Amino acid sequence: MLQVSVFSLSLKPYVGVPTSGPSSKNTLPRPAAAEPLYTGAALDLGLGGKVAVVTGASRGIGRSIALRLAAEGAHVGICGRTADTLEQTLTELRSRNVRAHAVVTDVRLTGEVERFVDEVAAELGGVDLAVANVGGSSGGELLASSAEDWARTFELNLFHAVRTIRASVPHMRARGGGSAVSIASISGWKPAPRAQYGAAKAGEIFLASALAWELAPYRIRVNTVSPGSIMFVDGAWERFRAAQPDRFAEFERREFPWGRLGSPDEVADAVAFVLSDRAAWINGANIPVDGAQGRPSAF
Ligand SMILES: NC(=O)c1ccc[n+]([C@@H]2O[C@H](COP(=O)([O-])OP(=O)(O)OC[C@H]3O[C@@H](n4cnc5c(N)ncnc54)[C@H](OP(=O)(O)O)[C@@H]3O)[C@@H](O)[C@H]2O)c1
Repeated sequence: MLQVSVFSLSLKPYVGVPTSGPSSKNTLPRPAAAEPLYTGAALDLGLGGKVAVVTGASRGIGRSIALRLAAEGAHVGICGRTADTLEQTLTELRSRNVRAHAVVTDVRLTGEVERFVDEVAAELGGVDLAVANVGGSSGGELLASSAEDWARTFELNLFHAVRTIRASVPHMRARGGGSAVSIASISGWKPAPRAQYGAAKAGEIFLASALAWELAPYRIRVNTVSPGSIMFVDGAWERFRAAQPDRFAEFERREFPWGRLGSPDEVADAVAFVLSDRAAWINGANIPVDGAQGRPSAF
């Protein structure tokens, strides 16, 4: 029965594909036509009134993403382990005339990501957008890292991203769809020391590409944004520059065609776009934001 239907399908030319002439060998299926989107209007991201959750948003890249989304009119829920810095970012968010909610939590603890997402949904009225931003690395190179270091690194990056997206999906479904972004890294495919970090980031990239298929029936898109090395006050690269200025200068000269590292705001702009409906046809993708950086390592 199946064979008959496949056979009969192969005899039917797709609409618009000539059955003779130079294109006649093109038997690839044609995608369904896109819904007309272009209106000639300015590029309005349309994020006003949406509700976003951003993990690890008291400092660094996550903070910039939260502030960018608030500047676009989205209500934002954030989390982090340190009450002081979280409170500061919460105040900044509210000064942008949106509603915001903060939860002090450690995303590695069982049930805590779920508590964060559900609490934001209850406080802000749902969840449309999710950003799994927390990340980092434990242990040294292969022979200087334990099984626990590898497990901790996967927990902090990949598994926390899984939980953030999984906890957000029921809320997105209740709203008729949504969009999730996991913050991976160019270390997910450009080799550098601390393989546990790159392997976990590669996992996040694969996760998005697979979930884009799984969650499409619910009109939920899933992508990764992969920063290169990002400089900000009190960030890892600023600390490295202070500790090893010569090594840092050599790294910046060697690996960056524009002679500088990226900024959190440059990552946040890409995340806001990918989350928005203006990126409706970007799904399961990994978007590097790295200024064409070479190796993500100063060593
Ligand atoms: N910075 C870079 O050069 C770079 C490059 C490529 C990719 N990335 C990726 O981008 C993401 C953000 O990096 P970043 O440099 O901005 O990180 P960061 O400076 O370490 O900031 C991380 C944020 O997450 C919070 N956080 C950390 N661990 C947490 C935990 N267990 N539970 C809850 N919150 C936690 C931090 O607040 P508390 O400490 O108070 O919890 C902070 O708000 C990460 O996924 C990282 O791997 C960064």
